[in-house]
Amino acid sequence: MRQSGATRREALKALTASGLATLSLPALTAPASATQGTPFQHGVASGAPEEQAVILWTRVTVEGARDLTLRWQVALDDTFETLVLEGEIVARASHDHTAKIDVRELKAGHRYAYRFLLGDARSPTGYTRTLAGVDAMRLVLGVVSCSHYGFGFFNAYRELGKRDDLDAIVHLGDYIYEYGPDGYGGDVAKEIGREHEPAHEILTLADYRVRFAQYRRDPDLQAAHAAAPFIAMWDDHETANNSWAAGADNHNPEKEGSWEGRRDAALRAYFEWMPMRDPKPGKAFHTLHRTYEMGRLASLHTIETRLTARSQEVNYEDEMLYAETHYDVSDARHPVPVTPEGASLLPEAYVEILKTPFSENDGMPVYDYARTKLWMTSALPEGYSYRPDTDRFRREVLGDPKRMLMGTAQLGWLAQELKTSRAKGTPWQILGNQIVMARMDAPDFTKAFPEDVIAPAIATNKYNRQWVERTKLGLPISPGAWDGYPADRQRLYKVVREAKANFIVLSGDSHQFWANDLRETPQGNRIGIEFATSSVSSKGGYDYLAADPRVYDIAEEVLQRDVPEIHWCDTRHRGFIVLEVTAESICADYMAVSTVKSRDYTVTRLRRFEVSQEGAGILSELKEV
Ligand SMILES: [Fe+2]
Repeated sequence: MRQSGATRREALKALTASGLATLSLPALTAPASATQGTPFQHGVASGAPEEQAVILWTRVTVEGARDLTLRWQVALDDTFETLVLEGEIVARASHDHTAKIDVRELKAGHRYAYRFLLGDARSPTGYTRTLAGVDAMRLVLGVVSCSHYGFGFFNAYRELGKRDDLDAIVHLGDYIYEYGPDGYGGDVAKEIGREHEPAHEILTLADYRVRFAQYRRDPDLQAAHAAAPFIAMWDDHETANNSWAAGADNHNPEKEGSWEGRRDAALRAYFEWMPMRDPKPGKAFHTLHRTYEMGRLASLHTIETRLTARSQEVNYEDEMLYAETHYDVSDARHPVPVTPEGASLLPEAYVEILKTPFSENDGMPVYDYARTKLWMTSALPEGYSYRPDTDRFRREVLGDPKRMLMGTAQLGWLAQELKTSRAKGTPWQILGNQIVMARMDAPDFTKAFPEDVIAPAIATNKYNRQWVERTKLGLPISPGAWDGYPADRQRLYKVVREAKANFIVLSGDSHQFWANDLRETPQGNRIGIEFATSSVSSKGGYDYLAADPRVYDIAEEVLQRDVPEIHWCDTRHRGFIVLEVTAESICADYMAVSTVKSRDYTVTRLRRFEVSQEGAGILSELKEV
C-alpha cells in the first residue's frame, strides 16, 4: 500500500535531478556511528505512536538547498521481504532536510521494521511499535530525562537501544541543552571530548538545528531511537534554562532578542528533529499535551509545564519575607509596637510595619522604633540579623493561588481525559510530566552532615555553602518543581481525586531517582505514586557536595527518614526506569549505569518497586519486589 502518489521512477528521477553525486558529508565528532559516511548520518527514529499509526523520521545530510525525495518502507522484519507499507517523502531544505511521515493503517500492538532509501543508500533499520491493542496483557516503557551531551556518554540510551521489548521510550525532557562550551557542563565536556556544537549558546533556528544534529550523531542515542518509538516532551533546556511562559533565566532579551522569537525557533527545530506529531493546525506551537491510549491497560497523559502557563520560579533570596513588627505611629514622637490584631483596628495611616532585627547574641527581638527604622535604611550593625518568616513566605509567596504551572485550560483538558479514561474502565492513568511532584521540604543538612564530611565541599565554594545553609529554613528543596507551585498542585490533585484516577506520575528534571508517595494533604490519603527518573548523563545535585562520598549515604538516609513523601531515593546514579504495566500492577525498575565518563560501563538494577490497586483511586503502598 502506498501513501504517496509518486511512482518509484519519479522518485529516482527526483534523486538524479537533485544531484546525489554532490552530497557532501561534514566531519564527525567521535565516537563514530554506523551511519558515518552515509547520507543518513543522524539515523532513524519513530515516535508518537497510536494504535494504528506512528511517526517515522530521518534526515538527509546534503549540501545546498535542494529538496530530496526519499522512499520509506515498513516491513514485518528486518529482511524487508514482506513490506507492509511503503511510500515517498520529501526531505525539505526548509525543514533542515528532516523528513517525517505519519504512517497510518498499521495493526495495534505490532512491532515493525522500517527504513529509508535514497538512491543506493539505505538508512539503518529502525524498529517501532504501535500502541497496544485491546488484548495486550503487558506494557513495557523506558523512562528517561536530562541528556546533556557534554556531561557524559549516553550509556542509558545504549542500554535501552539493546532491548526489543519496549512499547515506547518516554522522554520527559531536557533532550538537548542550550549551553555553549563555557556554560553548564562545559568543563566535563572538555575533559571527555564532547564539547557542544555550535561552540556557543544556541539562540537562533540555525543554532538549535546544529545542536540537535550533534546529539543525533551520537550512536547510543541513535540506537535508542532505532529500538522503539519515543513519546517525548520538552522541559526547559530545549528552549533555555528555567523557562516560563514569558521568558527564561538563561535568556536576556536585551542581548539575545525577543523571548518569543527564540522560543519559536527552538520549538521549530524541536518538531523538525523529534519524531513527534506536529501540533494540530490552529493550536499554539507550544501546545504539547496529548493522551496516548495504551490498550485496556493504561492511558498516558503528557503535559506541558514550561511555556503554556508557568509563572516565574520563586527566588528564595530575592523574595523572602521576614519577621515584622507593627507600630502604632499615631503619636509620631512615640511610636509603639502593637500586635497585628491591634494594628488592624487602627486607621491605615497610623500603622507602620518594619522588619524586626534580632540580636544574634541572645536571640531577642529589637522593638525600639527609632533603632529599627534607622537600621532599615542603613545596614544592620554587626551582631543583628533579620529572620525569615517562612510560614508567611509559604502562604503569601509560594502559595499564591495565582502562581500557575499547568494553567486552567490544560488542567481542564486533563480533568476530562482522566474522567474519560476511568469511564472506559482503564486501570491506570499515567501522567508524563517533566518535574518532580512530591512535597520535599529540605531536611536540615547543616545538622545532618558531620563537619568533616561536608567541609571539603563548602570550604571553598560559596554556592555549596549557601545551599547547605538554606536547608535550615526547611523550605522546598526545588522551587522550580511542583513544590514551587503548591496551589496549582492542589488544583491538580482535586481533579485526580474527583476522577478517582489510579494516578501514576512519571517525572524527570532532578537528576536523581525517587519513588514517592503523593498525598493531597500532608496527613491525607495517598492520591498517587511518583516514579522519578535520574538523568541520562546530566550531573546530579549531590555530586557537587560529594567531595566526600559519604555525602550520598547521609543525604539518602536523611531524605528517606525526614521527608514523608519520599519512599526511596538514590542521589548518586545516572540511568533510567523501566516500567512494566499490567492490569493489576505497575512495577518500576530503577536502572543505574556505573559511569557516564566512559563508554565502558556496567548496568545494575538498584530497586524494583510495585504498586497495585485497592479500589478506584486507591493505590497500595509501594512494595519492594
Ligand atoms: Fe535537566
